[in-house]
Amino acid sequence: MASKKIIAVVGATGAQGGGLVRVVVNDPESGFVARALTRNVSSDKAKALSKLGVEVVSANIDDLESMQRAFTGAYGAFCLTNFWEHFSPEKEHAQAKVMAQAAKQAGVQHVVWSTLEDTRKWVPLSDTRMPTLMGQYKVPHFDAKGEADQEFTKLGVPTTFLLTSFYWDNMVFFGMGPKKGPDGTLLLTLPMADKKLPGIAAEDIGKCALGIFKRGKEYIGKTVGIAGEHLTGNEMAAAMTTAFGQTVRYNNVTPEAYRGFGFPGADDLGNMFQIKCEFNDEFRRPRNPSVARSLNSSLQTFAAWLAQNKQRIPLS
Ligand SMILES: NC(=O)c1ccc[n+]([C@@H]2O[C@H](COP(=O)([O-])OP(=O)(O)OC[C@H]3O[C@@H](n4cnc5c(N)ncnc54)[C@H](OP(=O)(O)O)[C@@H]3O)[C@@H](O)[C@H]2O)c1
Repeated sequence: MASKKIIAVVGATGAQGGGLVRVVVNDPESGFVARALTRNVSSDKAKALSKLGVEVVSANIDDLESMQRAFTGAYGAFCLTNFWEHFSPEKEHAQAKVMAQAAKQAGVQHVVWSTLEDTRKWVPLSDTRMPTLMGQYKVPHFDAKGEADQEFTKLGVPTTFLLTSFYWDNMVFFGMGPKKGPDGTLLLTLPMADKKLPGIAAEDIGKCALGIFKRGKEYIGKTVGIAGEHLTGNEMAAAMTTAFGQTVRYNNVTPEAYRGFGFPGADDLGNMFQIKCEFNDEFRRPRNPSVARSLNSSLQTFAAWLAQNKQRIPLS
């Protein structure tokens, strides 16, 4: 039997990369094997991957040499940055550049880069409908990822640009679940007006990425967007009402109000939701659930995800 192709996975201990590692482990016929990259091979999450039989290697996306070592011998690489760890778009861009350089030097044949749009193509800094943040961004955690796409193209790295969607898991980990309003009714607070929000189960991102690696050449040089479903706030609230067996109401707030919520990154997310509303067609068009389903036949709908995950969503 031909030896399996290695996919080096950045973020293997996290949501996106973890999903990719797990689907590769669970799909022994895929022709691929995962190599998990982490800064800390002794963490519980890294040890759990070792226990699954996954090769776990030490690497840091701030350190080119470590990334070259980790990408050596790999056919593919899943590349990811984690904005929320440092809140620095410049650092995110630099990390993407390191991964592109390492992929080039190691001769990686297919990179899937988990990116997002540079929103300044829709709302230039001169546009005053929303504040400019950190001096030169509208949505810092999007803009630097989109800006960094060029690091892969400039070096001629064979890359698929993967546009991900809002994780429904944000309701579990990011405090975005429904909360009790003044009258005790559960309120799902989002500044999405009457527009549809593309969403996805975080676990499905890695499954779609494996679909892209399997299709190989067809996707190199392409941008592909993925979502499980596009839903309005009312539709999400209705699905939660069914899942929880108690009323959840959509609480539509303005982007200004959302920016003012005061938690770290509220201004970034307020701008993000405003763009998703005001450029709804442009934002939704590339994130086609049928494309995602063609890459990952077990793609979950919101209702299916809720059925599996509702106990994990804190209702307060
Ligand atoms: N939440 C959403 O709705 C959403 C939607 C679309 C896109 N995103 C984007 O998703 C990204 C986060 O991905 P995630 O949710 O999969 O992350 P996550 O679950 O928070 O895990 C972060 C991962 O990144 C790795 N990592 C961070 N810094 C690293 C470094 N310097 N060197 C090597 N590995 C490093 C961590 O590995 P170790 O700690 O083991 O080293 C960990 O595996 C963010 O940039 C965010 O903007 C989020």
